[in-house]
Amino acid sequence: MCGIVGYIGNSDCVRFLIDGLKRVEYRGYDSAGVMIYSGKDRSNVLIKKTGRILELEKNIDKNISGNIGIGHTRWATHGEPNDENSHPHVSNNEKIFLVHNGIIENYMSLKKKLEKHGYSFYSETDTEILVNLIQYNYKDDIEEAVKIALAEVKGTYGIGVFCLDEPDKLIAAKLGSPLLIGIGNGENYFASDPASILKSTAEVVYMEDGEIAVITKNSVVHKTLTDEIVKKTVETISIELSDIEKSGYSHFMLKEIFEQPRTINDTMRGRLMLEEGAPKLGGLTQHPEIYKSLLNAEKIFIVACGTSWHSALIGEYMLEEYARIPVEVEYASEFRYRDPIITPKTVVIAISQSGETADTLAAIKEAKRKGAVTIGICNVVGSTISKETDAGVYLHAGPEIGVASTKAFTSQVITLALITLDIARHKDMSFRQGYKIIKELKLLPALAESILENSEKIREIAHKFKNASNFLYLGRGYNFPVALEGALKLKEISYIHAEGYPAAEMKHGPIALIDENMPVIFIAIKDSIYDKVVTNIKEVKARNGVVISIASYGDDEIESISDYVIKIPETTNLLSPVLTVIPLQLMAYYIAVERGLNVDMPRNLAKSVTVE
Ligand code: G6P
Repeated sequence: MCGIVGYIGNSDCVRFLIDGLKRVEYRGYDSAGVMIYSGKDRSNVLIKKTGRILELEKNIDKNISGNIGIGHTRWATHGEPNDENSHPHVSNNEKIFLVHNGIIENYMSLKKKLEKHGYSFYSETDTEILVNLIQYNYKDDIEEAVKIALAEVKGTYGIGVFCLDEPDKLIAAKLGSPLLIGIGNGENYFASDPASILKSTAEVVYMEDGEIAVITKNSVVHKTLTDEIVKKTVETISIELSDIEKSGYSHFMLKEIFEQPRTINDTMRGRLMLEEGAPKLGGLTQHPEIYKSLLNAEKIFIVACGTSWHSALIGEYMLEEYARIPVEVEYASEFRYRDPIITPKTVVIAISQSGETADTLAAIKEAKRKGAVTIGICNVVGSTISKETDAGVYLHAGPEIGVASTKAFTSQVITLALITLDIARHKDMSFRQGYKIIKELKLLPALAESILENSEKIREIAHKFKNASNFLYLGRGYNFPVALEGALKLKEISYIHAEGYPAAEMKHGPIALIDENMPVIFIAIKDSIYDKVVTNIKEVKARNGVVISIASYGDDEIESISDYVIKIPETTNLLSPVLTVIPLQLMAYYIAVERGLNVDMPRNLAKSVTVE
């Protein structure tokens, strides 16, 4: 959570900071702030505003300019979203400014210590404690003061620091929160996400945990907190500007839903070997020992949160059915604090779009501590989880900016199918079966496209139900997790209460809720349990429920028992979630738009949850 940016150079930094913050607004959007240093008479301005970056922007006077600046967009943890709690925070002597992404866990004890030395505090934040701890350790060297302060800190941080007494530099440091340095021409930058600096440069250096960077307009020196110089490689950002812009769509979420035919393809690109009826996953095979452990695993845990947890459930069905390995799917937040049984032949797979989710990262660390082999399925290249795991598979779905995850989900399902297929083909899955699944995979982009072409019909249905107060989503088998995901999408962006259930389980509770006001969405495609789902639909109709069915083309029976039907093409069982989820994503999107809500930045949520 939270996004930070910084600039040092010869140009005016105001536009850079505001545009950069807008690019990381998905990381938190309850308040924002900037510190701009003009250099003339050491003057600086600090502007902090509750609300979106737009509010902050409105409050920056046109005359304000400067060629050093730091900025922050916040997702509140310590203290409510108000102007005081917003960053940048400033030290008691008003000389040191700090933007911080992460959590200082021992801030209470540090606060007590500083209070004893006469420090006072205007906010409820942990960050204000840190900036004063830096002041407390400051003699005449800001780099030194930051290092000493950080040595005392427990928790996570990506920070940017500016000191009025040393106005030729910015200090950046990282532990557990993403941070990179952008290399410009006569100017340099720091940011939580490459998207913030892409307009200015594609050259970046990714910081590692425990590192500090001293940034001037012409140089960047990387060190460890213990003062050893670190040689870093400059990398070129692979994303294009169009990847992080709406490109004519009204929302990122809509763009990302419509990108799926391409992103599904990108996830499979170069990985399907039709002639062998098997996939090839370089991120696994290049680590032979880890790969061998996966192929020979006796137990797999999949840990994840949110939407990624839903794809994990689909992975469980796939891996057990085809790879014949017992799988347990766990919320990462539960896994990390209980005592899961990890044997030498246990593999733990972490799924995380961002690769930064705190609980998932902690679960992986816990699994490693207990000796498990760990594998990451992440979208963001170079993210913390992708580095922490022993091997992994990237989604290659491109940046996902809408807070509600869409294209990452379909790419996660594809990736899990590829891993399943790989293991299964090393066991007793025949060439013919592998070949058939690969053929079906190749068809998916076109099939997804055909669903999107039908979006108008989904929009019309959404219009009819925009005022519903509750929704029930039901599915079975591979599409039970899709029911959960459909309900989550609706909750996240429309604020309508929705629940997902295995269709048959409806009889054990949710059926009591059903009346003529209760829309029930059934995933009722023609698969092996189709007849059972039809029975469940009839049970709902018998109680006057309103049924919206996601059904297969050519299924005429379903029309007579449903109030509304959205038809989709067929594919093989394990891949069906890739198609069935698309109408549910669109339904949630259109309902939220009809209700006039901010689809890309729903209240209280953040794209990347880097706190427990
Ligand atoms: C947040 C996001 C969700 C996401 C979840 C897990 O809650 O709003 O969209 O599914 O985190 O994120 P991850 O990056 O680990 O997949």
